[in-house]
Amino acid sequence: MKEIKFISTALEYNSIDELDKTSQSLLNAAKEAALKAYAPYSNFKVGAAILLDNGEIITGNNQENAAYPSGLCAERVAVFAAFSKYPEATAKAIAITAISDNYKINSPITPCGACRQVLAEYEYNAGTDMKVILSGDSGKVLIINNINTLLPFSFDPSNLKKTTKKK
Ligand code: THU
Repeated sequence: MKEIKFISTALEYNSIDELDKTSQSLLNAAKEAALKAYAPYSNFKVGAAILLDNGEIITGNNQENAAYPSGLCAERVAVFAAFSKYPEATAKAIAITAISDNYKINSPITPCGACRQVLAEYEYNAGTDMKVILSGDSGKVLIINNINTLLPFSFDPSNLKKTTKKK
């Protein structure tokens, strides 16, 4: 028996001003996208911006629906848009942020489990880290090196190939 350990670390910055210019502009693109979210039910408007290796920035925001489960998170709207347009690209970074008319969001928001799973697929395919930049509408910013840190023990395409043939 041996213990398998995953240690998650993040870098915490006091504000967006402390980030490098590329991360700042990605986060600003996410903030702009958040303002255009369709979130009439939760009033929790999320924006995501993905930087591709071809230099393109693709954004998305949450799209809610009167049939609640039919809505989709900002991260998946963004990542599906990115890879439907540029199937050969790799994602270098994703910035995620949120804003609400009802309250202040002054700590970083983190992606839900389903979005982590979807993002993990593209990081696995690329074989390179997708940096994650997280913020609220104000306050501290977290930077995490890759999706794997957010989703250890993830189910990825290699799992589908590990099965032994029954006959
Ligand atoms: N939401 C996102 O878009 N991304 C997240 O990471 C967390 C949650 C959306 C889903 C729903 O429209 C609203 O935020 C409240 O959960």
